[in-house]
Amino acid sequence: MTGMPAAQRLSPIEQVGPDHRRVLVDLGDRAYPVDVGAGVRRLLPAVVARLGARRAVIVSARPAGTVPDPGVPALRVAARDGEVDKTLANVEALCSQFAGFGLTRSDVIISCGGGTTTDVVGLAAALYHRGTTVVHLPTSLLAQVDASVGGKTAVNLPAGKNLVGAYWQPSAVLCDTELLATLPRREWVNGYGEIARAHFIGAPDLMDRPVGEQIAASVALKAGVVARDERDGSLRHILNYGHTLGHALERVSDYAMRHGEAVAVGTVFAGRLAGALGRIRPERVAEHLDVVRGYGLPWALPAEVDLDALIAVMRLDKKSMGTGLTFVLDRASGPDEASGPELVADVDEALVRATLAAMPRETA
Ligand code: GLY
Repeated sequence: MTGMPAAQRLSPIEQVGPDHRRVLVDLGDRAYPVDVGAGVRRLLPAVVARLGARRAVIVSARPAGTVPDPGVPALRVAARDGEVDKTLANVEALCSQFAGFGLTRSDVIISCGGGTTTDVVGLAAALYHRGTTVVHLPTSLLAQVDASVGGKTAVNLPAGKNLVGAYWQPSAVLCDTELLATLPRREWVNGYGEIARAHFIGAPDLMDRPVGEQIAASVALKAGVVARDERDGSLRHILNYGHTLGHALERVSDYAMRHGEAVAVGTVFAGRLAGALGRIRPERVAEHLDVVRGYGLPWALPAEVDLDALIAVMRLDKKSMGTGLTFVLDRASGPDEASGPELVADVDEALVRATLAAMPRETA
């Protein structure tokens, strides 16, 4: 399935207005639209009316006024973006507020914030009354291109990131590009790491395109993948291109390296490893560096990073079935088009080490 032609992985993008695109995540009777464009958060009352909700709880990590009036009586709850607040205690606290407000299963929960907020509110929605409708208003580039779409929700445990979660699809996602205007540069880099990796798993060339188009195309890719493999059985693994090393870099840097930064370096590495395994030609290996640099992303390993520590963490990667090293790796297009990225298990450690050792390093 991973070898399907890249173009077939993309869901259609409907051009609703000059700067308004819509992608359907086609999960049958759980299908939902992702609207992308300037001002689309103002569709919220229409979305709530379509869902038939009579009340809403709005959990927002953004200033008052970011989330429009949903058109039904609403409780507003303040949240905070960040990994430290992705806890089961916060899920419990949110559910208690839902209950205190008298929220029923046929009402709606609305999240507004970055990916950490959509993750924790999504999990609370999955658990409250065994599943309550949720609408996401993601406000970071990373959350708009990836985290808010596809139904993965999770919180952290002291033992690790995203260890407790559920698949719970939203009923709508509103990616308002106006909300990106004030993001600091590092937040843009965080999102562009995921857009750059999308280049290698079936997205069209998005460099130099308007941000709304970049987001919609990344969402179209993700929607196509999720519609075929909602629960990560096979095809969905490709969304983790560049992530085996990426997650390890985040972890060994104690999350000083942001997700998108780490995925960017991991994407360069994935290209080099595929090249070392003879899966792709040198030009395709070089394309990895060109794309990552083209988006202004980091491409080198941190100066002092310990390769043994990286390898130890990569062995624990959740894509791995055992203790071997598992990567999503590209493979050259053949005449039958049965090519493209796929999960490759038990990659030789000596080759991984040599490829890591040959990676460019930041200067100390
Ligand atoms: N972010 C990867 C996924 O949603 O599967």
